[in-house]
Amino acid sequence: MSQHSTPNPPSLNLRGFEIFEGFLDVKKQQNLLEDLRVVVGKAPLFTPTMSTGRQMSVRMTSAGRLGWVSDNNGHRYQDRHPRGMGWPDIPKSIMEIWNAVGAPERTPDCCLVNFYDEAARMGLHQDKDEADFSWPVVSVSLGDEALFRVGNQERGGKTESIWLRSGDVVVMGGEARLKFHGVDRINSGTSTLLPKGGRINLTLRVVT
Ligand code: SIN
Ligand code: MN
Repeated sequence: MSQHSTPNPPSLNLRGFEIFEGFLDVKKQQNLLEDLRVVVGKAPLFTPTMSTGRQMSVRMTSAGRLGWVSDNNGHRYQDRHPRGMGWPDIPKSIMEIWNAVGAPERTPDCCLVNFYDEAARMGLHQDKDEADFSWPVVSVSLGDEALFRVGNQERGGKTESIWLRSGDVVVMGGEARLKFHGVDRINSGTSTLLPKGGRINLTLRVVT
């Protein structure tokens, strides 16, 4: 088998968001989780503040050359964790997903790690802090299922939602790259992957 074998096509396409349902089997999800424990050990989860001054409900950290941060000075990518340490490398298990469905010719600069407890959500937003929108953003879901809402390239208009489950991978590229998206809610207790419940979402991004 070649190193980058062609994956099956996405099982769903929602407004250009390509959804690979069940892309990761349970063993791969567990391996990913172990690798993420190492990442979080080196670069602990923190609670970002939005430009409004309100705290976000997700906790986050990053791996890679750059990490995404949001505080009273706005949101941006930077090469340091808010506590000053550099970000850990993106684990190989995560790079394999990028190489399979993302853009293997380019290394992503950032793997953003978002942790959702049962009350966390993420409002509709666009991913616009990157320099070149021709690169896709690849999203990986682990743990409890999440109601993922997708909209349009402008704010407003009709939206549609789907449940993302542990092991699902979403490629946000092409026409979907600048579409609004967010997470309405977490369906607590729907996965046993995380011992204390909750959801982890990874997004792999080319930044510069
Ligand atoms: C994000 O838009 O950064 C996260 C999406 C998700 O949690 O599925
Ligand atoms: Mn996003």
